[in-house]
Order: sequence, then structure tokens, then C-alpha cells
Amino acid sequence: TEGVLVDRYGRVARDLRVSLTDKCNLRCTYCMPAEGLPWLAGPQLLSDDEIVRLVRVAVGLLGVTEVRFTGGEPLIRPGLVGIVAAVAALEPRPRISLTTNGIGLDRLAATLRAAGLDRVNVSLDTLDRDRFARLTRRDRLDDVLAGLAGAARAGLTPVKINSVLMRGVNDDEAPALLRFALDHGYELRFIEQMPLDAQHGWDRTTMVTADEILATLRQAYALAPDPVVRGAAPAETWLVDGGPARVGVIGSVTRPFCGDCDRTRLTADGQVRNCLFATEESDLRAALRGGADDAELARRWRAAMWGKRAGHGIDDPTFLQPDRPMSAIGG
Ligand code: GTP
Ligand code: 5AD
Ligand code: SF4
Repeated sequence: TEGVLVDRYGRVARDLRVSLTDKCNLRCTYCMPAEGLPWLAGPQLLSDDEIVRLVRVAVGLLGVTEVRFTGGEPLIRPGLVGIVAAVAALEPRPRISLTTNGIGLDRLAATLRAAGLDRVNVSLDTLDRDRFARLTRRDRLDDVLAGLAGAARAGLTPVKINSVLMRGVNDDEAPALLRFALDHGYELRFIEQMPLDAQHGWDRTTMVTADEILATLRQAYALAPDPVVRGAAPAETWLVDGGPARVGVIGSVTRPFCGDCDRTRLTADGQVRNCLFATEESDLRAALRGGADDAELARRWRAAMWGKRAGHGIDDPTFLQPDRPMSAIGG
């Protein structure tokens, strides 16, 4: 290898998150406005081959061992199955996962599994059809539930569910969501809302905190510390009613895990982001299209990671939300 993606604080990025598109077929109110966003134009997007080339550099030269595809909604990228197959053929083979809203997963799960996808995380914030339609502005709850079932059937396991709780919107549903996950064998994680929405409407007071989530869950379930080593995982996990089932909380804001971060990110238009909250990006697309060889791409990627900040700084008085919203970064 050419050396790993290490930053000045000694953190090593082994986990690459690749956004395949900034588009989405839902319009979650906490993510984007009803009319959508000015999407990236075709020529700005990396081609399938360009994505695979950059992942090859990350895996072959930079020590990346985990690759997660995200969006927007990655299932709407036409070349997804081919990209997964090409990444699964890399040496050494990285673990491959997908973060999706689940729409269309029912139909694609077996094909993705055969192509080399290992597991999926599916977003689901409510089990109530009307509430789902209001929250995502689309009446697609049944598609998501079918997607979850299809993923489990295809062996894309453990199937994890991501739920963002919002005060007065769906925070009463935490125990019901956990019941649902336990009944179906899915691993549920509750996520603290982060200031990454396109509308810049994030508000600390509407964010449901990790402490609040845990207190609510403990009214219905016994939670015990999980003996599994957390490592760099964003989710802190607990055994539910003695285990083996688990529940997780991703407390990015009140329980930050930046000190253990092992992530590097590639946007759909070929920019390396060293942090979800980075204010600067490194343009690998320009380098790649300008004829850079793999060693040069690796050098630029390492340089981009070296400048990673110690933490997201949400609590700093000078905190500024990044220009790109969550949907264009890939979460
Ligand atoms: P697992 O490997 O299954 O644990 O995946 P994950 O939880 O890291 O990924 P997923 O895409 O399911 O993300 C779940 C939530 O964690 C989303 O809200 C992400 O934005 C958030 N998340 C993922 N990586 C980071 C990170 O580096 N920093 C912060 N603050 N949040 C992150
Ligand atoms: N804060 C926290 N999580 C978010 N997600 C989308 N926007 C935010 C936000 N502002 C979640 C999605 C999905 C995961 C990838 O990130 O609901 O589950
Ligand atoms: Fe789409 Fe995810 Fe944003 Fe919802 S949160 S609109 S599913 S990108």
C-alpha cells in the first residue's frame, strides 16, 4: 500500500462511504424541502467506472476495508448492481454495505446479495402509514416494510433500521419501533438529529437526545451494556431484556464519537470529505479527469484526510453548518 489515510490526531480511516447520487424518491421533512433540491447535473456525477476506480485506490493503496454506498437514495442509481459487483471483485475484498430508504429493495435484494453486497441499513422513522406519508411526503410505508423483509430473506444481515426521532412528531413511537424490530429480527438504532438539513432548520430543542431516548425505552425494556466492543461504530448498543437482541443509539450531538472516527467520504461528484461536517472538500474528480495516476489520486486522498478536524464542533459558538446537506454528502 501507499500508506493509510491517517490524520494529524492519529485516526486511521478504514471505512469509506460513497454517495452514489444526491437524488431521492422521498422528501423527509428533516432532510429536504417538498420541491427537492437543485440536483447535481449528469456530467458532474462520477461515472460507474470512475467510482470503481476511486474505490480501488482506497482499497488497494490506502487500506480501506469497509465500503458503504449511500445517497441520496442509492437504489435509484442505475449502475448500482454493477458497481457492487466490481467492488466485490477487488483485492483484498472489502466488506460492502448499503444505507437506503428501502424503496425497491424488495425487488433488488437477491440481485444485490449475489453481486456481493453484505448487509443493509434501512431508514424508517414511523410505522404509522399517515405519519409516514406526512414525514416523508410520500405514501410509501408498505414499500419500505417490503424492502426490509426482502433484505432479511436475501441474507443481507444483520438488517439494521435507522430511526431519527423528533419531538412531537414521532418521539412517542420509540417503544413501538423497538417492538417491531425485535419481532422481525432487525437491529434498531435511534439517531439524534444533526444540523445537516437542506433548510438549515435544525434546532437543539426539537432534537430528541440520547438520554431521553434511553429513558423512554427503559420504561418498557430492560437495557444492559452490550459486551461487544464498540470500536469506531457511531452506535452505542444495549442488550434488550437480557439479549441477544440489541438496540443502538447514535448520539452524534450529545455523545460525540469523533475521537474514534474511522470514516472517509466520497460525494457523488467526486469530492473527498474528511468529515460529515467538513467545510472543505478535495476534488478527486478533477484530478482523475485531468489524467492523474492511481498513486497521485492516493496522495491527494491522504492529503485531504490529514487536515481532518478533531471534532464536528456543533457545540462551538462559531459552528457553521456545512454548505452541502446530508442528502448530498451521504450521511
Ligand atoms: P454501521 O456500520 O452499520 O454501524 O453503519 P453506520 O451506522 O455507521 O451507517 P449509517 O449509514 O446507517 O448511518 C447511521 C447514522 O449515523 C446516520 O445518521 C449517519 O449520518 C450517522 N453517521 C454515520 N457516520 C457518521 C460519522 O462519521 N459521524 C457522525 N456524526 N454521524 C455519522
Ligand atoms: N440527522 C441525523 N440523521 C439524519 N438522517 C437524515 N438526515 C439526518 C439528520 N439531519 C438519517 C436518515 C438515514 C440516515 C442515513 O441518516 O434518516 O436513516
Ligand atoms: Fe431521502 Fe434519506 Fe433525505 Fe429521507 S433522509 S429525503 S430518505 S435522503
